[in-house]
Amino acid sequence: MDKKITIAIDGFSSTGKSTLARQLAKHLGYVYVDTGAMYRAVTYYALQNGYIIDDHFDRDGLVRKLPEISLQFLFNPDIGNAEIYLNEVNVENEIRTLEVSGWVSRVAEVSEVRAKLVEQQKHMGENKGVVMDGRDIGTVVFPNAELKLFMTASPETRAQRRFEELQGKGQDVTYDAVLKNVQERDYIDTHRKDSPLIMADDAIEIDNSNLSITQQFEKVVDLVQKVS
Ligand code: DC
Repeated sequence: MDKKITIAIDGFSSTGKSTLARQLAKHLGYVYVDTGAMYRAVTYYALQNGYIIDDHFDRDGLVRKLPEISLQFLFNPDIGNAEIYLNEVNVENEIRTLEVSGWVSRVAEVSEVRAKLVEQQKHMGENKGVVMDGRDIGTVVFPNAELKLFMTASPETRAQRRFEELQGKGQDVTYDAVLKNVQERDYIDTHRKDSPLIMADDAIEIDNSNLSITQQFEKVVDLVQKVS
């Protein structure tokens, strides 16, 4: 295992992509990039700056402001992970609310937003040794990645996981609201015109409905060894 590779992890929301990606990055000494956090941070910006008010999303207004949006990942040694900064402010917690989750798929449909974030993602991975998770990593960002994984699990399993995670953070949510959000995002993510969520032809599908986190990790480490 001496050659540094690029690992692309795509799949539906709440399939445990980031858990797996973090474990792999730590194990391999690679950089982990959570691209969902980038789309979430742009959504948070839109909410904070009046480009999303009630039911209205001012796409054009947001697109005009894109040059003023800067995103960065900085490593936090206290937690051993990188955190996302929006215009120099740590927004790691603010981007995980149900309000941001409710809008993020709409923001991620905007081609100008995608173009900006994809360019930054390509740049972050240009030296390999990266594990990146998202929806279009194996198809658009790194079509030549040495290892592509596509994660799936039933909507109910995923909603239960996200519900427990949000409850653990003290957020006031119901299971039904989380399930509805998961289903809505699945629909928008797979039906959008620009870079819809699809499995790359050469990706390996991992359905983790019945796999523990450790079983999944061991399975993927085997796959990494085969291609490194
Ligand atoms: O992985 P996540 O749930 O944090 O992602 C949030 C949203 O961002 C998701 O609904 C779709 C969008 N997204 C995307 O369109 N492309 C990516 N590469 C990553 C996320």
